[in-house]
Amino acid sequence: MASVTSSATSPPRYFWIFLCLIIVSCLLLFLVPWRLWADFTDAVHLLPSSTASQSFSKTLNNSTIEELLHNISRQVKVPGVDCAAIFEGSKNETDAARAMTRNVSSPISDACYLNITENCDDFKKQRGYIMSSLTDEEEQFPIAYSILVYKDSEMVERLLRAIYRPQNFYCIHVDQKASNDCFEAITSIAKCFPNVFLASRRISVAWGWFTVLEPEIVCMEDLWKYRKWKYFINLTGQEFPLRTNHELVKILMAFQGAVDVSSSVKALDRRRLRGRNPPHGLRPAKGSVHIAANREFVDFVLHNQTSKDLLNWGRKIKFADETYFAMLSSNPKLGIKGTDKGDPENNHGWESFVRYKSWKWGPCAGYYVRKICILSTGDLPRLGKSIQMFANKFYLQEDRVVIGCLEEKIFNDTRDEYMGTKVFDTTLYQNATFIKNKFD
Ligand SMILES: *[C@@H]1O[C@H](CO)[C@@H](O)[C@H](O)[C@H]1NC(C)=O
Ligand SMILES: *[C@@H]1O[C@H](CO)[C@@H](O)[C@H](O)[C@H]1NC(C)=O
Ligand SMILES: *[C@@H]1O[C@H](CO)[C@@H](O)[C@H](O)[C@H]1NC(C)=O
Ligand SMILES: *[C@@H]1O[C@H](CO)[C@@H](O)[C@H](O)[C@H]1NC(C)=O
Ligand SMILES: *[C@@H]1O[C@H](CO)[C@@H](O)[C@H](O)[C@H]1NC(C)=O
Ligand SMILES: *[C@@H]1O[C@H](CO)[C@@H](O)[C@H](O)[C@H]1NC(C)=O
Ligand SMILES: *[C@@H]1O[C@H](CO)[C@@H](O)[C@H](O)[C@H]1NC(C)=O
Ligand SMILES: *[C@@H]1O[C@H](CO)[C@@H](O)[C@H](O)[C@H]1NC(C)=O
Ligand SMILES: *[C@@H]1O[C@H](CO)[C@@H](O)[C@H](O)[C@H]1NC(C)=O
Ligand SMILES: *[C@@H]1O[C@H](CO)[C@@H](O)[C@H](O)[C@H]1NC(C)=O
Repeated sequence: MASVTSSATSPPRYFWIFLCLIIVSCLLLFLVPWRLWADFTDAVHLLPSSTASQSFSKTLNNSTIEELLHNISRQVKVPGVDCAAIFEGSKNETDAARAMTRNVSSPISDACYLNITENCDDFKKQRGYIMSSLTDEEEQFPIAYSILVYKDSEMVERLLRAIYRPQNFYCIHVDQKASNDCFEAITSIAKCFPNVFLASRRISVAWGWFTVLEPEIVCMEDLWKYRKWKYFINLTGQEFPLRTNHELVKILMAFQGAVDVSSSVKALDRRRLRGRNPPHGLRPAKGSVHIAANREFVDFVLHNQTSKDLLNWGRKIKFADETYFAMLSSNPKLGIKGTDKGDPENNHGWESFVRYKSWKWGPCAGYYVRKICILSTGDLPRLGKSIQMFANKFYLQEDRVVIGCLEEKIFNDTRDEYMGTKVFDTTLYQNATFIKNKFD
């Protein structure tokens, strides 16, 4: 002690003050309650994406971003195929493209992804990722995605590239049954982005049973930690966007908090319930497995006891994935913000903007698997005119033109909207009845 007081009179006392400050701040840091600490690490985890986009927009002026968007458009242009003409419905061009559906570009293998992601900066540049939020509107409206994957890393990567923006969040669940190479490839891709991550638990998914729903819940939990996103959208690795990020944001803003989860009580085949009535006197319903939900809806799914009971009940019935979300949205007594106040059946039934999906009774240029059309080059004119957000579903290895042309359109539209030469009209979406009838 004496030496400390004596030295306090000499110049090195600043050293001691400095040392004390360090010790005190270290103590403070360790005394911070766990929850606060978790908040802090959350915030830190959020930093890379936001700083990345900020430094990007600071170093890149508008004309550089325009140039970059032009570059990416050129890069994704499908060689030897006139996609614009196919979208217009040219039979000539469609027939010509049909001969090249498998060889218009070479597949990218799992091993190749391991290789090209070794240097993440090169990977992002080479593959043409948009590392800017582009507009303030988009930056202020992050979207959270879950992506369910069981094969084909190239398709997953191209989907990710088409919807990637630094402000969004992406949770990828790779089925336990997927090949190890595929898992490794997707892991290596995710590692290149601070806002892309793998689901914290891996589940072996069996079609038609509860396990289809489980990865979704895991991803919702993982995504919930990030507080900035406004809407949650669920995708599979075999789907592709029909809209640019800017268009998705405009549509979701037009929803004004409404959830897009179509449902119907009448359409439910009660045999699927296997004689088990839902808990809490809830009315069973059937609906789409594709949803666009607000934070309150996801909060309810994850944290409300009624929802947990319903989920447990779902373990015992068939096709819980088609029932669970539909029931949350078609039981007004739950009063979840953004769901329907009245009887959704009478109000809007199957009105939904989340997916273009052609069932057995719809048009299909490809072929049907489990009554759902595998979309192909011949479907492009319909896909181009569709008002939906995403399309289901594609087999990249069988038709590389349809994905190539959709990419061309998405990146062209991104470029043109940024330059202001294309304007996206949302009146159609604003008019939706599920928006008018929602709980506020
Ligand atoms: C934008 O930035 C680039 C390179 O940083 C520069 O060459 C160009 O003159 C800038 N353009 C404008 C309009 O400021
Ligand atoms: C850059 O573009 C954004 C949106 O396109 C616009 O709001 C902004 O004014 C532009 N800035 C400059 C310096 O041109
Ligand atoms: C666009 O591509 C050209 C030619 O490959 C290149 O010189 C330029 O740096 C690229 N611009 C941007 C912003 O990436
Ligand atoms: C995309 O833009 C390029 C260049 O402007 C154009 O040649 C091409 O036809 C466009 N593709 C589509 C699908 O619109
Ligand atoms: C398209 O078809 C017309 C006849 O219908 C033919 O004259 C023309 O050469 C074809 N164009 C191409 C590019 O194949
Ligand atoms: C693609 O494959 C088809 C046969 O499936 C062949 O006729 C065509 O020439 C090939 N095209 C290219 C660009 O290799
Ligand atoms: C991986 O990349 C290295 C160069 O970085 C290259 O020499 C090698 O051939 C690549 N391997 C594969 C399988 O693409
Ligand atoms: C998401 O989509 C998959 C596949 O279509 C489906 O199985 C799953 O239940 C969906 N999840 C939600 C939350 O709708
Ligand atoms: C769960 O939801 C029910 C029905 O909306 C509501 O009455 C209850 O208060 C909620 N519980 C909690 C803990 O939020
Ligand atoms: C939206 O609704 C208004 C009035 O209800 C109607 O005049 C308009 O045509 C509708 N627009 C679209 C795109 O459906």
